[in-house]
Amino acid sequence: MKIIVTGGAGFIGGNFCHYMVNTYPEDSIICVDKLTYAGNMETLAPIMEKDNFTFYKTDIADRTAIFELFQKEHPDVVVNFAAESHVDRSILDPAVFLRTNILGTGVLLDACREYGIKRYHQVSTDEVYGDLPLDRPDLFFTEETPLHTSSPYSASKASADLLVLAYVRTYKLPCTISRCSNNYGPYHFPEKFIPLMIANVLNGKKIPVYGKGENVRDWLFVEDHCIAIDQIIRKGTAGEIYNIGGHNERTNLEVAKTVLHELGKGEDFIEYVTDRPGHDRRYAIDPAKIHRELGWLPKTPFEEGIKKTIAWYLENRGWWENIISGEYQNYYETMYHNR
Ligand code: NAD
Ligand code: DAU
Repeated sequence: MKIIVTGGAGFIGGNFCHYMVNTYPEDSIICVDKLTYAGNMETLAPIMEKDNFTFYKTDIADRTAIFELFQKEHPDVVVNFAAESHVDRSILDPAVFLRTNILGTGVLLDACREYGIKRYHQVSTDEVYGDLPLDRPDLFFTEETPLHTSSPYSASKASADLLVLAYVRTYKLPCTISRCSNNYGPYHFPEKFIPLMIANVLNGKKIPVYGKGENVRDWLFVEDHCIAIDQIIRKGTAGEIYNIGGHNERTNLEVAKTVLHELGKGEDFIEYVTDRPGHDRRYAIDPAKIHRELGWLPKTPFEEGIKKTIAWYLENRGWWENIISGEYQNYYETMYHNR
């Protein structure tokens, strides 16, 4: 199979490229990435020379470039990870989220219609469901939970999902959608909570916890997400949505304390800062459908995954130090100064 992976120089797309290139030497993996601030060729360095891997620096919202690419490569499968992915950045500047996440998805869908495709897979997020109350631990997101977005980021992802479903119904395009909870693991960009904490602590800086740290996220080790997507594109039913995640819920404060404990530091490293506007309270996935239909369940408990993740950041200081020494400093100053 020839599989286009968009956003493959980012966190989850990069892990997915590694997984697919190494697991399926008979398949051809074609990574398409614009290389925004979040795209990093160092993430792809370990697989760049593999015979079954090709890289194109291309913007998914560039219709001409994407159509030329499809005409040349004629992929069997497209997995769309490419997106602006950070909620805080979407609050600062929503426009680019609409362009990449909505228009970019539209361009890919049109290219799939024009050149034909066996499967288009949209990597979406549990944030499209909005949030759950903190005092109702019995409630979970299912695939039937109504869309109810909070941030420009989640609104753009929900819009893209609706576009995909429209192409399924109107044009009979064979698409699937997955909605996943918070990922963590190697190659995670240090603007996100877990790698930000690790990088800060290793540099002797405090960790900024929004509000009281009561918000809950359902953490999934990134390799478990990659395995789920692989199963969906091979065994999932076209037209279906699959929630991915599963019962690794922690408050942000619990996660912060775990990271500090693993790094041998005290709770004096925690600094409470002004909350995120519109901050979603709790995400929690019910993975019953993907378990029942495809046999998938997450393999990595949070306690094991966080140890692996911290070990990776300790062993790969060059990867994240390169990032935080550049333009990222301006972002950090804008986001956290006087917060
Ligand atoms: P990321 O920000 O680490 O990576 C995004 C990648 O997309 C980068 O390599 C970037 O260069 C590329 N990109 C951005 N705009 C592009 C464009 N116009 N054309 C081509 N490439 C472009 O993101 P991530 O955390 O790896 O998330 C990947 C996908 O998974 C996103 O669609 C996100 O919404 C979704 N998701 C993420 C999580 C999570 O916890 N990180 C959870 C659920 C769903
Ligand atoms: O649920 C899936 C989503 O998870 C994905 O769709 C997004 O792309 C991904 O970024 C992630 O969104 P979150 O907003 O949940 O992730 P983030 O790492 O930004 O924040 C996790 C929690 O930690 C959230 O409750 C906000 C809090 N936080 C975050 C940062 C960056 C802090 O308390 N301090 C911080 O400095």
